[in-house]
Order: sequence, then C-alpha cells, then structure tokens
Amino acid sequence: MPFFTPVTLTTPRLVLRPLREEDAAPLFSMWSDADAMRYFSFPPMTSVEQARERVVRGEKMSSSGVDLICVLTSQATGEVLGDCALFRVDEQCRRAEIGFSLQRRHWGSGYMNEAVSALIAHAFGTAGLRRLEADIDPRNLASARLLERQGFVREGLLRERWMVNGEVSDSALYGLLEGDRRK
Ligand SMILES: CC(C)(COP(=O)(O)OP(=O)(O)OC[C@H]1O[C@@H](n2cnc3c(N)ncnc32)[C@H](O)[C@@H]1OP(=O)(O)O)[C@@H](O)C(=O)NCCC(=O)NCCS
Repeated sequence: MPFFTPVTLTTPRLVLRPLREEDAAPLFSMWSDADAMRYFSFPPMTSVEQARERVVRGEKMSSSGVDLICVLTSQATGEVLGDCALFRVDEQCRRAEIGFSLQRRHWGSGYMNEAVSALIAHAFGTAGLRRLEADIDPRNLASARLLERQGFVREGLLRERWMVNGEVSDSALYGLLEGDRRK
C-alpha cells in the first residue's frame, strides 16, 4: 500500500534526495565498513553487488511509496554522505520506524542530526505520522545520543532480539510522538 511520496529535503548543508542506482558504490563503502556496521541489522557487505541489490530493493520500496529512503548528499560537493529512512509504516496507527547511517569519515560533523531533524519534520508534517520508533543496539551510544537529542525517549529493552553474524544482541526501543515536539 503506497504511503509516502518521494521527496527532496534541503537542510543548511545537505540535500536529502531519493535513492538512485549510482548510489550503490558510495553506499557500499559504508555498508562494507566493519566499524560503521558494528550495530547494524546485517553484517558488513563484501561485494558491491550486494550494495546494488540493496539499492534496487530500496528504490522499489521508495518509488512505490512503501518506504521513504533519503540519500544524504553534501550541498557543497555533491558527495554521498549516508542515508536515512522511514520504514515499517503502520498507516492506520500513523507510525513508522526511523533508521540512519553515515560514512565514518563524516562522524562528528553533526550531519545526521541535521538530516534526521528534517526527516522528522517531514514525517510529522507532510506525511502526517504521529509516532516514530527506533530500534537500536543499546551499546550504540552515538545513535542513542542522536535520538535523545531529537527528543526520543527510551521506552524499553527487548532482550536478545537480533542475531547478526552469530552475535546475539538486545534492542533498545525509542519513541517520539508528534505531541512531544509541540511541548
Ligand atoms: C549513528 C550515527 C549516524 C551518528 O552520527 P555521528 O556523526 O557519529 O553523531 P555525533 O558525532 O553527532 O554524535 C552524536 C552524539 O553521540 C555522542 N557519541 C558519539 N560517539 C560516542 C561514543 N562512542 N560514546 C559515547 N557517546 C558518543 C556524541 O558526543 C554526540 O553527543 P552530543 O549530541 O551530546 O554532542 C553514526 O555514528 C553512524 O552512522 N553509525 C553507524 C550506523 C548506525 O549504527 N546506525 C544506527 C542503526 S539504526
């Protein structure tokens, strides 16, 4: 069931635009980086073909309006810096999950904070959602801080929810209500 319309969002330093086929190579450099993938839901990729397949799947989900996947590009250089997305939408309850990842060389720059801020504004504005959720590994402190900075509240812990490359990990669940933003 289509829910999202693909969009381009602009922030002071970034353009968040829909995913394209040619993003596979720059995204592969992030998806194959063991440090960036440390707390991810799939293991680091080993071939650019895996990135191409993921991009094709993502493009389908985005163009059909099931997910909203945005690629972060630098306004100054056009470089692909990472991605952020809204997915697992429940249309009736008007909620979705949020996810994000940034090329490691750009960590500490505040880019994702800028991108996620714009994506949240879009989610609660144009898209009409009322609740966003994030599922992160509780050891993923940079993600936890980023979410808290945006006003997300840690709502629970699901034990041993994931198994990636044979490693079992917990889920810390975070939630943000549209109403929280108006407080
Ligand atoms: C999550 C991610 C996008 C955050 O981007 P970032 O540029 O690293 O974020 P920042 O450097 O602004 O850090 C965010 C906050 O976490 C803190 N932080 C960063 N690394 C930390 C660490 N190892 N331990 C404790 N705090 C940490 C920062 O000090 C900052 O705190 P502040 O907001 O109080 O200043 C990035 O780290 C990333 O892409 N990680 C890999 C992908 C991932 O795990 N995605 C989440 C799965 S959904």
